[in-house]
Amino acid sequence: MSVTATSVVEATNLPSLCPQVRELIPGFGVDLGAWDLSNGVTDKQFSTIQELAIKFGVVVIRKTGLTDETHIEFARRFGELDDVRPYVKAGRKNRLKYDELFDVGNVELDGSIVNPLSPRAQANRGNSYFHVDSSFNPRRAGYSLLLAHELPPPGTGGSTEFCDTRTAWDDLNKTTKQELLGADYVACHSILHSKKLAAPEHFADIDPADYPMGRHKLIQKHERSGRMNMYLATHIHHIEELSSEESKSLYDQLFRHATQPKYRTIVEWQNVGDLVIWDNTCTMHRAMGGEFAAKYRRDMRRATVHDDSSQAWGLNEHSDLRQGLP
Ligand code: OGA
Ligand code: MN
Repeated sequence: MSVTATSVVEATNLPSLCPQVRELIPGFGVDLGAWDLSNGVTDKQFSTIQELAIKFGVVVIRKTGLTDETHIEFARRFGELDDVRPYVKAGRKNRLKYDELFDVGNVELDGSIVNPLSPRAQANRGNSYFHVDSSFNPRRAGYSLLLAHELPPPGTGGSTEFCDTRTAWDDLNKTTKQELLGADYVACHSILHSKKLAAPEHFADIDPADYPMGRHKLIQKHERSGRMNMYLATHIHHIEELSSEESKSLYDQLFRHATQPKYRTIVEWQNVGDLVIWDNTCTMHRAMGGEFAAKYRRDMRRATVHDDSSQAWGLNEHSDLRQGLP
């Protein structure tokens, strides 16, 4: 039985907390409307938001009034946070004050707009393909919380699109499901692979196979909801124990299936302070880009919560390694 917003609304008295709640597409994604979180979040409010994130994968909250500090504080309630310290140690400068925030907009250190032809822009292009966060690192991301600090003018792009990989699994035919469960495939995730797909010339001299990859089961249970999930992402370089042709063909087949329009929904960022929370272990997302990129600032900051499920480390050794270092 699919869970509807109505049943959650009834179960949690959500209307009294946020009357505007609506599903983005049936069973996937909810927009709670405006909800001021600047004065802290009660346990009741937090458990409602968490319950919605588990059931719907994506939760949009408008006009939260969050700052860097309260964004981090709120994110910490979902679990242990990832941080950019390994990247800073490796020489990357951080424009933001806190290491717990990932700078995913188009703003340079000096406040200017990232030149779309610059190495940084080339390296970010992979973000426009459907992906999950940090599947290439030893410990993957659970939740991501992305907060808008400055937005380009409406109509110039910059939306974020989400994809429901649990429902995509549900809809596979029985034979395919049995074949996949029987094979129990392991997929190898590489940030360099998705970056190179998006900017082949820039990464011409890099072979992702020369670098470590994150290994994760392709089909796995999303433990928080008990539903099965296809843990897909453009970061997948290959599926183990298949020839490269077989691997590519299986990946393409599943990715094409999962990214059909019926599993996708676009979130338009409307206001500074809009926050989107998504669960990387049952959804994919992508940056939609647009004409704003060369002209207008889009300042977006992401807190990233380490996964705490039994699948968090996949088949990887537990280590502090990070991929995509400069
Ligand atoms: C991210 C991401 C998409 C966007 O923050 O992980 O992929 O639209 N963002 O900025
Ligand atoms: Mn991302």
